[in-house]
Amino acid sequence: MLKLAVLVSGGGTNLQAIIDAIADGRITNARIETVISNNPGAYALKRAEKAGITASCISPKEYAKREDFHQALLQALLLAKVDLVVLAGCLVVIPEQIVQAFEHRIINIHPSLIPSFCGKDYYGLKVHEGVLDRGVKVTGATVHFVDAGTDTGPIILQKAVRVEASDTPETLQRRVMEEAEWVIMPKAIDLIANNKIQVTGGKVVEI
Ligand code: GRF
Repeated sequence: MLKLAVLVSGGGTNLQAIIDAIADGRITNARIETVISNNPGAYALKRAEKAGITASCISPKEYAKREDFHQALLQALLLAKVDLVVLAGCLVVIPEQIVQAFEHRIINIHPSLIPSFCGKDYYGLKVHEGVLDRGVKVTGATVHFVDAGTDTGPIILQKAVRVEASDTPETLQRRVMEEAEWVIMPKAIDLIANNKIQVTGGKVVEI
């Protein structure tokens, strides 16, 4: 049974998609061990509570140094003995020491088709604003393993979503979540939990 830590910062709809997929059997051989938020006001914490999952807040504001916050996060993950760390709308940049401690055991969802509209300047609504400004007709979402860079790790799954002429960043964000993020995030976890993929030569391959 793969033990998951789900790291969140906000609404937690991706967390909810994982909870629902475990409940209805689209994810097998995995359970959420803990939910950790950097933001005490995140609605994701309420979702965890409602589902009876251990949830806590580790806020950088409670630590004098960023390094101490990073240490606290790492210790919480080690203490929970998790096998996979899932960044589900997590706005914290994961530091090198956590990436190294969990090599190929951290996954992230990004709301575009990487390598487009990704990297340090693209997060939240900025991704969808960039898509609309450039006028691309197709966008989507990507689940990838986390490495030392920003959105540069091996790609696990991608799903395309159409862009409509009438879209605002908000309507596009919603469609990308509904049609792509909530589908491929649970699928990626199920693939990992059932040993269906591995990283070879920097790429994800099916086993
Ligand atoms: C999602 O669009 C995710 O891709 C992005 O932030 C949003 C989080 O949504 N990184 P939620 O907290 O899962 O509802």
